[in-house]
Amino acid sequence: MSETGHQGQGGDTIDPPMAMLAELTHRCPLACPYCSNPLQLKQAKDELSTEQWIDVFDQAAKMGVLHLHLSGGEPASRRDLVELTQAASERDLYTNLITSGVGLTEQRMNSLDDAGLDHVQLSLQGADAQSADVVGGYKGGFERKMHVAEWTNSCGIPLTVNAVCHRRNMDDLDTMIDLAVTLQARRLEIATVQFNGWAVRNRAQLMPTSEQVAATTAKVEAVRERLKGVLVIDYVPADHFATYPKACMGGWGRIGINVDPTGLVLPCHAAETIPSLTFDNVKDKALPDIWYRGDAFNAFRGTEWMQEPCRSCERKHIDFGGCRCQAMAVAGDAAATDPVCAKSPLRDELRANAIAASAGDDTQPFVYRGRETVSS
Ligand code: SF4
Ligand code: FES
Repeated sequence: MSETGHQGQGGDTIDPPMAMLAELTHRCPLACPYCSNPLQLKQAKDELSTEQWIDVFDQAAKMGVLHLHLSGGEPASRRDLVELTQAASERDLYTNLITSGVGLTEQRMNSLDDAGLDHVQLSLQGADAQSADVVGGYKGGFERKMHVAEWTNSCGIPLTVNAVCHRRNMDDLDTMIDLAVTLQARRLEIATVQFNGWAVRNRAQLMPTSEQVAATTAKVEAVRERLKGVLVIDYVPADHFATYPKACMGGWGRIGINVDPTGLVLPCHAAETIPSLTFDNVKDKALPDIWYRGDAFNAFRGTEWMQEPCRSCERKHIDFGGCRCQAMAVAGDAAATDPVCAKSPLRDELRANAIAASAGDDTQPFVYRGRETVSS
């Protein structure tokens, strides 16, 4: 039985989170140049134990969470992945494995299927081995992913392909779409790279031009029509050339809850970039207590915290003022209007900087986290 009917500031009702992102580990064999994990990764020795994760899943299910995203880093780096999946499944959580595929074998995929895994989201860093392995910083990764897609299909587990698009691959979107169809994915998520975390270091190589963004948006619309009934395409367009921001996290503390590898409970994966916030840990407090009463969750929940122009804006219940982490990064104030918004005083500067970055030299090699070059 879930806890419902909690009153937030301003009298709004706080519902339980619908989805939990469990960042099981920050360990990862890949080194994508746009990695969204924190610059300071959590160490393996500080990760929650199997029992502690199972307790988190138990609390999540009891408070009303429906979807559990098993993520990382690379979740397959956890030796107890099958055990964790089974525990989540036994608690009636819909389990979605978000994976690079590296670290999975056919046998392990069969075990995950037996454990009740409901869905696989497989990341693709490119549409062929050459480009994908350079972006992922890992030789042989693409070939492994092709096998993982095959094993996922053999198990009858629905497959989504995740593709991050950026300046270097946006012109090759057709090949990625064709590959998703060949792999029998039911869904393709095309997300334009977000410029936080490691992506900031590779900004010149990754920032798309406004022409690329416009062409991609038009292409997605046309292909959606052509592939109706074959492939569903979700598309996250480039922030910098939008008119209004996206409702990041579906609104702060509204539908999603993240637990990092050490048990820290975050309103979004980048929330630690906001220095004024302090976060609770599942080792010290019960999950419902953190969700309903935790300071970090209540900091930007609802609309009471908003400044102008958000406070009196007709879209405040649509996008919730955009992304708090982007406001922090660009405006230096996490409560500011997302600088992507046409009503933000910083929007013109943000756009000019993006255009300048997209006109730079994109032929420089990527800067990888923790390695000089592509590893094998
Ligand atoms: Fe959204 Fe705030 Fe911009 Fe209005 S002013 S569209 S609420 S970000
Ligand atoms: Fe933190 Fe958007 S990434 S609120």
